[in-house]
Amino acid sequence: MSVRRLADEQPTSFEFTPENRVWAERELAKYPPGRQASAVLALLWRAQKQNGYWLPRAAIERVAAMLDMPNIRVLEIATFYTMFNLAPVGRHYVQVCGTTPCMLCGSDDIKAVCRKRIGEEGHVTPDGLFSWIEVECLGACCNAPMVQINEDYYEDLTPESFARLLDDLANGRPVKAGSQIGRVSSEPVGGLTSLTTLYGVDGRGGRGAPAPANDQPQAPVDEAAAQAHAEAEAAHINATIATLPADATARQKADAVGVCPPALDAPRGAGPDDLQRIKGVGPVNEKRLHELGVFHFDQIAAWMRSEIRWVGTYLSFPGRIDREQWVAQAAKLAAGGGGPKDGQTHTRLPAGRIET
Ligand code: FES
Repeated sequence: MSVRRLADEQPTSFEFTPENRVWAERELAKYPPGRQASAVLALLWRAQKQNGYWLPRAAIERVAAMLDMPNIRVLEIATFYTMFNLAPVGRHYVQVCGTTPCMLCGSDDIKAVCRKRIGEEGHVTPDGLFSWIEVECLGACCNAPMVQINEDYYEDLTPESFARLLDDLANGRPVKAGSQIGRVSSEPVGGLTSLTTLYGVDGRGGRGAPAPANDQPQAPVDEAAAQAHAEAEAAHINATIATLPADATARQKADAVGVCPPALDAPRGAGPDDLQRIKGVGPVNEKRLHELGVFHFDQIAAWMRSEIRWVGTYLSFPGRIDREQWVAQAAKLAAGGGGPKDGQTHTRLPAGRIET
């Protein structure tokens, strides 16, 4: 470990705010008399947070006095643990995970954005807004690559989404912590691969799962659960979109919540499938799907969770693809099953337009 020294320029004093003082007294009360030193990490951490995420000498000595510890003992602790910053950091303090899972998923590209937008590691931008360092695993490997900014995690980053995040922070716009592609917790990128009947999503596995044979019914779908899932999806997507600039395009909104599905340049073989056989797809949406390079049932049947979110958002109806179960319908049609034209009809609106 390299030597860690206190910053050259130091404030002359440090005092906890009244609220933090009350909090500190509660911390001290957790330990038996004479054992107050047990609270040293908690107090240093609180002092660092109060002081803009770095520890000046005065704060270290203040904590030592409160805990009746020699200054050198607290100084040893503050200089040993790298979670304590000994020099000023940016108001948005970016910690980029560079450990193997994040590295394999693109943390080098995230670091390149840091160098370009912020400067070299450890450097604070002249306006005091940003600084960054590389750190070891932050425990969110399944949503790699990720960064921590102050106390929040930002996951499933791409260089583009990360650059946009820095822009938003620089301009004081609201940002959304957590997955930047709308993933819930650490669910698979392609959507659920188990408990799908419980959630009533689409009754299929992830990408590559075999389409059900014609005589093989879809996994039973609990309608109420499907609707609840669709509503939760819509709420989550709308909350993400609300953080974007008011003039964000449909594609920018879709990119913020998901991944554009694979496209074909042109229909295969004898031409496009009749996508209007999927209940909920009318002429307007069929045309827009064609514009996205989606011509066949098997393409829709293979959409993964992030792709469902992308398309639903791009077409301006988050949650509806789940609600109407396009993927399950498409899987059935791809396997030769029936669709609306075999019995159900689209709803005709008074103006003669077909509801899509
Ligand atoms: S490797 Fe990056 S969070 Fe674990």
